[in-house]
Amino acid sequence: MKSSNLIIIKLGGSVVTFKEKPLTPNYDGIEKILGVLNEIKENFKIIIVHGGGSFGHYWSVKYDMHTKPYPYSDLGVSVVHDSMIELNHIITNKFIESKLKPYSIQPSAFVFNSKADPARIHDIVDMTSGNDLIPITFGDIIHTSGNNFSILSGDTIMSMLCTELHPKFSIFTTNVDGLYSDMSKGEIVREIQVDEADIGNILSEGKEKIEHSDSPFDVTGGMKRKMTESIQIANSGTPVYLINGFHPERILDIIHDRHYIGTCIRMRSGS
Ligand code: IPE
Repeated sequence: MKSSNLIIIKLGGSVVTFKEKPLTPNYDGIEKILGVLNEIKENFKIIIVHGGGSFGHYWSVKYDMHTKPYPYSDLGVSVVHDSMIELNHIITNKFIESKLKPYSIQPSAFVFNSKADPARIHDIVDMTSGNDLIPITFGDIIHTSGNNFSILSGDTIMSMLCTELHPKFSIFTTNVDGLYSDMSKGEIVREIQVDEADIGNILSEGKEKIEHSDSPFDVTGGMKRKMTESIQIANSGTPVYLINGFHPERILDIIHDRHYIGTCIRMRSGS
């Protein structure tokens, strides 16, 4: 069942930081989205997930840390985690300045050994049922088992939350307009209809389409991971929208069922 007034939004690292400039927040990128959030909070419960951009990814590359569980360097684990807390703090401060009420949740509060705990996820929603708090979580380095840690992408967190909570909309923002069908002409794919069988196909046939936005600082797989997670979410019944976070008014277009620029991934009708 869909939660009719819940919207889950990923603020991509390429929106909240300058991805190519180490440890540099993009205040304009963060601020632009706040006005839209202030508007939609009147009618929707919001959950925010943000990425690592030039904070988490920068240090993950330096310490050679990836999404595979492994006994990575202790210092690397500390530094990556710390950089994500710092970025989260920068973002939540901006939220508070603009009169939004964020409540930070480290992903280790609901992900154990790479699996999401459904009860903890539902607690996040319960926590906000009678107030205006906006839960905000983020990609991070988290413990898996034994001495192992792994990078958990905000995109994976999106699919953990969306497949459990069935929001009305799931929106991924990045620094591009959507999924390109032809990079050179700047053409965007408007809609992709998927079913379970499509994950492998889309990832292999659409290789050139989905690898376009990877940057030198990216340990979680760029557009490719976004597609894998989006297909999971779409298959659970929630449409996924990939839009440009520097044009957050497109979120309003989606909510109000107007024409928008971006890519929608939804379950194939009849499947
Ligand atoms: C990455 O999160 C988190 C770390 C590297 C610690 P994401 O994979 O969601 O980040 P972006 O959105 O691609 O920057």
